[in-house]
Amino acid sequence: MIRIGVLASGTGTNLHAILDACARGEISGRVVVVVSNNPKARALDRARRAGIPAVAMHHRAFPDRDTFDAKLAEILNSYEVDLVCMTGFMRILGPWFVNQFAGRIMNIHPALLPSFGGLGMYGDRVHKAVLDSGSKFSGCTVHFANEAPDGGPIILQAVVPVHDTDTIETLAARIAQEEHKLYPQAVRLFGEGRLQIVGRRVRVLPQGPPRETVGITEISEGEGQLG
Ligand code: GAR
Repeated sequence: MIRIGVLASGTGTNLHAILDACARGEISGRVVVVVSNNPKARALDRARRAGIPAVAMHHRAFPDRDTFDAKLAEILNSYEVDLVCMTGFMRILGPWFVNQFAGRIMNIHPALLPSFGGLGMYGDRVHKAVLDSGSKFSGCTVHFANEAPDGGPIILQAVVPVHDTDTIETLAARIAQEEHKLYPQAVRLFGEGRLQIVGRRVRVLPQGPPRETVGITEISEGEGQLG
């Protein structure tokens, strides 16, 4: 059973999807804490309703990012979190934090990375950029987080078509449906110890007998062959 900490700033629909997957037994784990930098985030209400500790820590209450990151790590460690899931978390985590939880932080992005990602690309801005570009496909990406915004190794992606009649809202809704399947799936694979980071790539190991190590194994590029 993995212990999951969710970081959210908004509505928390991905949190909801992960909670549902845990309740259905699809993920061998449970959400033990939800943290938001936005005290008004609906994600916090969802957590409270589910009886999960919900912590609001407004970033403006901290003098700088390092202090914010240190407090966040302290909270997550106090709940003995194995995996940190960012779900529309509107704070960039610094290198120190990423290093503390190396290979144990996931993020979801509402497009097919490495396109339409990076600083300032979140929510509706992403869908607008996709529509403006004339792309015929978009989708969502679950990836491990590193110091670069939306930059870490990709775990899973789902593709959705962009229709001629799409607006930001219709495209966002189609992608959200896929996000709610994709994120729980990535968390499940992590819980089953089936994710292996090989350089920039994430290998999904086949299902097998229960593994002793839960989470990820990380090997350098030369050691593993993808395929
Ligand atoms: C999700 O659509 C996620 O992909 C996006 O924020 C939304 C959070 O929704 N994340 C980004 O744009 C990150 N660059 P939720 O609070 O309902 O889970």
